[in-house]
Amino acid sequence: MAEKISVLIDEHKLEDKIQEIADKLNKEYEGRVIHMIGVLKGSVFFMCELAKRLTVPVTLDFMSVSSYGDGTKSSGVVKLIKDLDESIEGRDVILVEDIMDSGRTLYYLVNMLKDRHPASFKVVTMLDKPSRRVADIEPDITAFEIPDRFVVGYGLDCAQKYRNLPYIGVIEE
Ligand code: IMP
Ligand code: MG
Repeated sequence: MAEKISVLIDEHKLEDKIQEIADKLNKEYEGRVIHMIGVLKGSVFFMCELAKRLTVPVTLDFMSVSSYGDGTKSSGVVKLIKDLDESIEGRDVILVEDIMDSGRTLYYLVNMLKDRHPASFKVVTMLDKPSRRVADIEPDITAFEIPDRFVVGYGLDCAQKYRNLPYIGVIEE
């Protein structure tokens, strides 16, 4: 039987918010180059929509990590699968995330990347579930705070499915 997915945040709401964030970054980074780093694969849709709306010069790089856990919870043990192609030393880095849950993945990534001496460093996340936070880390910019529900779409998957949905949805029980 096909799973039914209900819409939590529709495409228009997402796009309006992404434009709002882009406007803010365009002002803040005027005269500089934004080096955007995406965490594969979940952040890709949000990252593209944000990058398309930036008017300052943008360069892109990607990394891939996997966190070990019991399937639904991350353990905080993060394995680097693919490192960045380029050095971030002296660059104005924006790390783009799909969702912050416990924050363990981001905690690991931020500490690793800050050690590489970027000129500036900011974290932008599409979604945040603040009620689930375990690690001592907060994003600089959040598009939407959401309740403790498992969400899919706009890059987010459930067993690799539903990443292509143009909205954030919840799988009905
Ligand atoms: P954290 O280390 O617990 O913050 O885990 C963050 C990662 O868990 C995200 O980058 C997602 O890959 C995954 N994740 C957390 N919550 C959800 C969800 O509701 N839907 C899909 N993936 C999720
Ligand atoms: Mg992720």
